[in-house]
Amino acid sequence: MQQVIEGDAREVMKTFPEKSFHLIVTSPPYNVGVNYGAYRDNLSEEEYFDFAEEWLKECYRVLVDGGRICLNIPTYNWRGRFNMYFRYYELMTLLGFMDRDTFIWVKMDGLDFAHSAKIYGTISPHNPHTKYPYELILVMQKGKDTLEGEETDLRYREFFKWSHTIWFIRPEYNRIHPAPYPEELPYRLIKMFSFVGQKVLDPFCGGGATLRACKKLKREATGIDLNPEYVEMCRRAVSK
Ligand SMILES: C[S@@+](CC[C@H](N)C(=O)[O-])C[C@H]1O[C@@H](n2cnc3c(N)ncnc32)[C@H](O)[C@@H]1O
Repeated sequence: MQQVIEGDAREVMKTFPEKSFHLIVTSPPYNVGVNYGAYRDNLSEEEYFDFAEEWLKECYRVLVDGGRICLNIPTYNWRGRFNMYFRYYELMTLLGFMDRDTFIWVKMDGLDFAHSAKIYGTISPHNPHTKYPYELILVMQKGKDTLEGEETDLRYREFFKWSHTIWFIRPEYNRIHPAPYPEELPYRLIKMFSFVGQKVLDPFCGGGATLRACKKLKREATGIDLNPEYVEMCRRAVSK
């Protein structure tokens, strides 16, 4: 079963019972001024991490023991000039999560370079900025190391390839959502970190890549998003 709920992830998650999901796969707003319609993506650094603390606390509560959370984030926030990965790592550790893995998603196209040049202007030794043609997937766990479950669909070859943690995957674009991730990303994470039939949550489901991957992989998915247009897009995608 796939369900998509319209609302604020912080409030919606409070209605879920404790330990009700085996895996969380998500990409939160990056706070870089993207226009998501219903959400202001330009908070101060403090406001942004207060917001993150609220939804991550709920993530911790609803995960089973041995469950993982996979967070797709950029390394660095160029708008607020802080290290996103480090701040999330620190916050999640304080909330009780334990570090497991970090994947590097290399975005295989030139767009990021064009984007960076636009932001940073002329490149010179006065004050050069480095560029990030990749994003990270921070994987943390709750409680014990092992997840209980029976039927796996993870093949030896997939595990062998994906457990080498640099992933080359082309980004995805669509006309409705401004910042989707490619379905291949949640597809790999879901196969690696959950069993067939288990429950997966995406609290910021956007256009629905996580839900589409769950449907293919026979996992039960719950997606949440504030924006009714994205919720509609997800519902259409999973009803096909
Ligand atoms: C980076 S995008 C996720 C994109 C998604 N992974 C995809 O592939 O389409 C972040 C999403 O969070 C949603 N959002 C922002 N604040 C929210 C909140 N408080 N509760 C639920 N969704 C929220 C935005 O509408 C946006 O769709």
